[in-house]
Amino acid sequence: MTSPHDLAAETIAGAGSPGMFQHGQNVEPHLFVILGGTGDLSRKKLFPALRRLAAEGRLGNDRALIAVARECDRGDEWFREWALEQLKAAGFSSDDLSDVPAARLFYHAMPESTPELYEDLAKRVKEIEKEYNLPGNRVFYLAIPPSSFAETVELLAESGLTESGGWTRVVLEKPFGRDLVSAQTLNRAVQAHLDEKQVYRIDHYLGKETVQNLLVFRFSNPVFESLWNRDRIESVQITVAESIGIGSRAGYYDKSGAVRDMVQNHAAQLLALIGMEVPGEFHAEAVRYEKLKLLTAVRPVFDDDAVFGQYARGVIEGEPVPGYLEEPGVDPESTTETFAAIKFSIDNWRWQGVPFYVRTGKRLPVGLTQIAVTFRAPPVRIFQAMGAGQVDSNVLYLTLQPDEGFALMIDVKVPGHPFRLRRLPLDFYYRHAFGVIPDAYQTLLLDTLTGDQTLFVHAEEVETSWALFEPLLLMEDQRQVQLYRAGTWGPAAAETLIARDGFQWRHLIPPGQDIEAGEAVG
Ligand code: BG6
Repeated sequence: MTSPHDLAAETIAGAGSPGMFQHGQNVEPHLFVILGGTGDLSRKKLFPALRRLAAEGRLGNDRALIAVARECDRGDEWFREWALEQLKAAGFSSDDLSDVPAARLFYHAMPESTPELYEDLAKRVKEIEKEYNLPGNRVFYLAIPPSSFAETVELLAESGLTESGGWTRVVLEKPFGRDLVSAQTLNRAVQAHLDEKQVYRIDHYLGKETVQNLLVFRFSNPVFESLWNRDRIESVQITVAESIGIGSRAGYYDKSGAVRDMVQNHAAQLLALIGMEVPGEFHAEAVRYEKLKLLTAVRPVFDDDAVFGQYARGVIEGEPVPGYLEEPGVDPESTTETFAAIKFSIDNWRWQGVPFYVRTGKRLPVGLTQIAVTFRAPPVRIFQAMGAGQVDSNVLYLTLQPDEGFALMIDVKVPGHPFRLRRLPLDFYYRHAFGVIPDAYQTLLLDTLTGDQTLFVHAEEVETSWALFEPLLLMEDQRQVQLYRAGTWGPAAAETLIARDGFQWRHLIPPGQDIEAGEAVG
């Protein structure tokens, strides 16, 4: 199978899969196998996304789905009814679902992961393919704990499941490793059995329409691209704020923390999309190669450029919420960070000297994913000298969720007053133009089925982004984790981190939301 991949070589060879936005493509007849088929991910994300795609006629008619799970006292009939209930719980009406009971949905019990039981699965797969005349195109979606990825890929390959008369693709959910070494080990284990073209590593942020729109925004609107460099941009901030806590995920989260859970993957991908060069062509290898190049130019982060926090009891939207240590399942002495603020520096011609700040946290005042690009101030502030009031730099806010859109803050003259200025947004909101935006999983599942890897993370990209955090992760035991009250924007040290460069955190809450705005609108 493929040895360590050389994305550059793939790019130069140009053997690209089609780029994104080609969703009109037909999905070929296929079998979709979900390992962990009755778990939360399947229930909440995969079934609803597949259902919507099917309802839109995107999946074709020649398909079947097998849910593989441990319980032996269940069969196909049970699964069909159960799937129906899950879809109803996800908001589908009985009318929308009238054809589901008859759909080609199957359940396959696999109480343990043994070669014999994978042989049984292989037999079942072949029987179903034969019965419905499917050509051997197969997706294996690993909705299982990451600790089982390597073994599962090996068992799938050794039972012959990943080789067929058609294409076979394996989807892996995050987290992909917990540091550089474990990510490398997992990549090698996967690559021992699969070609990179068969591997779909999901970072669901890449499936979000607004994240993809970052590329369109940048590369289809030269008005911005011509300003997109160190000469015109002073700093970039990426905020990935959540008001939710850790819910019932203590078992996973307490061993991960914000850097592993949000920064290494989602925030690093946003940073790559904001900072990357224009790909020569729009296909998977070219886009992934440019992201990789950008990540390679980012300096690894040390403790001096990072602040960690953990939420204490507080109030969010008027409701008292517990502290992290009081959450069920969390070690009462845990020092896991639920907040991180990090300064990144990029050593390339475009970005040298422009700081990129990332902050993310649980139990912040609001759920908001937003990028604030601050442009350089005018060299001479002539209106300020005339007593026009505070004159700020232009800031472009790209809001990825909720209330997706963008706002460019500009100064306008207040009529009737000699040179009083007011800061107003030139803005655009998706909801005005497009209404409902598809869920990320819908996009990613369709891309898996059409073989478009643009929105999936390449092996080298995963390793490069883990490498950025090695210095932080190696010093993990010695780091200072500071408390912040739930419902605030993290520990005070996060303000200091950015204030030492002369900046402050910025965010823009659209009008109408009852949250203190980082930037006043109007
Ligand atoms: C997941 C993290 O990857 O992303 C969660 O594990 C986090 O902790 C979630 O809540 C956020 O995703 P979204 O799409 O709600 O922004």
